[in-house]
Amino acid sequence: MKHEIVVTAQGHKGTLERLQNEFSAITLWDAADRDATLMQAAPRIRALAHFGHSEVGAKLMDALPRLELISNFGVGVDQIDLDAAKKRKLIVTNTPGVLNDCVADCALSLILNTLRKFPQSEAYLRSGYWPTRGAYPLTTSIGGKTLGILGLGRIGEAIAKRALGFGMKIRYHNRNQKNVTYPYDADLVTLAKNSDVLLVVTPGGAGTAKLVNAKVLDALGPHGYLINVARGSVVDEAVLLRYLQEKKIAGAGLDVYEHEPQVPAEFYALDNAVLFPHVASATVETRKAMGDLQVENLHLHFAGKPVKTPV
Ligand code: NAP
Ligand code: 8YV
Repeated sequence: MKHEIVVTAQGHKGTLERLQNEFSAITLWDAADRDATLMQAAPRIRALAHFGHSEVGAKLMDALPRLELISNFGVGVDQIDLDAAKKRKLIVTNTPGVLNDCVADCALSLILNTLRKFPQSEAYLRSGYWPTRGAYPLTTSIGGKTLGILGLGRIGEAIAKRALGFGMKIRYHNRNQKNVTYPYDADLVTLAKNSDVLLVVTPGGAGTAKLVNAKVLDALGPHGYLINVARGSVVDEAVLLRYLQEKKIAGAGLDVYEHEPQVPAEFYALDNAVLFPHVASATVETRKAMGDLQVENLHLHFAGKPVKTPV
């Protein structure tokens, strides 16, 4: 008999197919009456599979009194109320590691595109300006520049390795100094002061909310660039927009936003910003690997074994 699970939202197609084939999956997003569906399933549901960035809070957990496991598709779990999960002694799993390379590739693309303005120069060609206005203006090289990494964890380390290959120098700030050779800055303002490019790759959530504020951007200065592949919540987006408009920093490369998928329209008009629609892990290979890990954690739990990647 297949184990019954609740799937919260529509997500990666191949993983959804696996969840629907290998479990008896109750899908919440297309339920005519979500509360009634939950109430009807509650006596049997021990596991929840979650996709996307909608909130998994105490209300949903309490609606499922037999719940034991929340298996998340994604390494970031800022959308899950971990305190509520802890109170209920729920196991929460995520998908760390398998996406490091793709997210690091995206970070390097943002660094290159933001400093070298490749998207803007391509748009210049496509607009037919090259023959009439001449060569595209000079941009900024990345070799020799200092990359300050806020959040030197699994992904941060993969980014550092790549950036070294492009001739950048690395520094970092975490709450705890690591056993690495990169110079450590004990506070974020100092890291920003010491960096040409400040890259954010911490978790989101209350602990990092608006860490990158006016003081940090002032320290980065008018020749400094901000790159964010973490969560929109880590940066004060309104302040960032103003600093870009007023050229108080040189530019920004963003994969994540405060209220995704909504991006304030004023960002579209900026020539000094490169904007990706949260695509850092979005490759066929990586999304499959994330889904496989999400499904594996569910199977392990139902088999009475320890999960592979608890948070
Ligand atoms: P990780 O290995 O846990 O690394 C996170 C790092 O952030 C740690 O080194 C941690 O060090 C540091 N950190 C945490 N809180 C901090 C704080 N308040 N101040 C300074 N540093 C802090 O996580 P990961 O696997 O690299 O993933 C990082 C995050 O990237 C995820 O949580 C997710 O939000 C984001 N992400 C985004 C995408 C995307 O598509 N754009 C894809 C994957 C992941 P300390 O504990 O010592 O502070
Ligand atoms: C995904 C992510 O875009 O893993 C994360 O934390 O942000 C990304 O890999 C997201 O989780 C998929 O919903």
